[in-house]
Amino acid sequence: MDKRSLHFNGKTLQGILTVPGDKSISHRAIILGSIAEGTTMVENFLQSEDCMRTIQAFRNLGVNIVQQGQNLKISSSGMKGLVEPNSPLYFGNSGTTARLMLGVLGGQTFHTTVYGDESLTNRPMDRVAIPLQRMGVSIDGRKNGKYLPFSVRGGDLQAIHYSLPVKSAQVKSAILLAALYANGVTVIREPVQTRDHTEKMLQSFGVDIKLNNREITLTPPEKLHSSTITVPGDISSAAFFIAAAAAIPNSNVTIKQVGLNHTRSGIIDILQQMGANLEIDYLDTVNHEPVGDVTVSASSLRGITIEGDMIPRLIDELPIIALLATQAEGTTIIRDAEELRVKETDRIQAVVEGLSSIGASITATDDGMIIEGKTNLIGGQVKSFHDHRIGMMAAIASFLTDEAVVVDDLSSIAISYPRFFDDLNQLIKKN
Ligand code: S3P
Repeated sequence: MDKRSLHFNGKTLQGILTVPGDKSISHRAIILGSIAEGTTMVENFLQSEDCMRTIQAFRNLGVNIVQQGQNLKISSSGMKGLVEPNSPLYFGNSGTTARLMLGVLGGQTFHTTVYGDESLTNRPMDRVAIPLQRMGVSIDGRKNGKYLPFSVRGGDLQAIHYSLPVKSAQVKSAILLAALYANGVTVIREPVQTRDHTEKMLQSFGVDIKLNNREITLTPPEKLHSSTITVPGDISSAAFFIAAAAAIPNSNVTIKQVGLNHTRSGIIDILQQMGANLEIDYLDTVNHEPVGDVTVSASSLRGITIEGDMIPRLIDELPIIALLATQAEGTTIIRDAEELRVKETDRIQAVVEGLSSIGASITATDDGMIIEGKTNLIGGQVKSFHDHRIGMMAAIASFLTDEAVVVDDLSSIAISYPRFFDDLNQLIKKN
């Protein structure tokens, strides 16, 4: 446990920062590098607890992964080169590891048992198990295959045509990974576009994948060709500083080399609609992923409605956006975000409880929240529910409160951003 009393009121954020590598892209680079024949280099991978779970899983499956500073060197004998692990695979708190690894394990003829921490054990896994079972994977788990631990044996997979019933890139990615091992062409239809890092990275590894509107068509390859992947900065980590700088008087922050993939950059559009002072400088496209610099300075903000297709583009940023909405004039409505209920914790409940307890005017709805601004935040006790993004939201809130924000446990921040406080301290200046 890491209980802390935080109070940064009167301080401002100023300077230039490079945030750590993108979590979603790091997971995918480790996964595809581990099933690609030869040596794959991953530059600037995110060294956080979640990504270490994926690395450890592949080490247990016989892949040689060497860490060289910020980089990884992955040596694999290819798609069919994984070996049966001697012990159950532990995925900790990582939903991405769990869902995507189930896709990979579905393609293996050997047996694997997988499990996670208390949060992961209570997150829905049937959304992945059902399509994989339809492809021919044998999966069983607690509560009729709804929850981990799972026992998996794959092999001899059939391709499927599948319409995703949930807005989830993790489910889409699990099916795409299993489809690499299937007989025939798999077609996936999405109700709303979710992050497309898997599709983009499969192209970098030489896989024939076609994207047409909301439909993805994958033809199984003979093999994946090893590659070099450079991971851009994580916009979901940058979001905490971007939102903070938009709300904290006299702030001006530039985040360098951050991933600006359209399926992830909803926070930028939303901040612009709220009246934030933002400048985007697109620099390059690396491994099909756009990268650029984002500069933001404080301005007055107004409340807006966030809904529909926008939601998957900023799903992980909604806790910090909710905090920002307390500083905007008028009402902010967030709807169509029912997926928040099944994140590391129920993030609708966690955000509403946390922000209410420091003085916000915020109400939960079934699929989102309603925030009335602008409010003067007082401070008080916040429960993180062991959720990294709730912990970081609480830390940023303490710039805006009259009294301290006391957070019960901040250790979960290491899930996605171990050096969060170092980077924050680098930007903090006296007002
Ligand atoms: C992720 C997808 C999203 C996101 C999560 C990472 C990914 O989850 O919330 O943090 O890397 O594919 P869902 O696919 O469950 O929406």
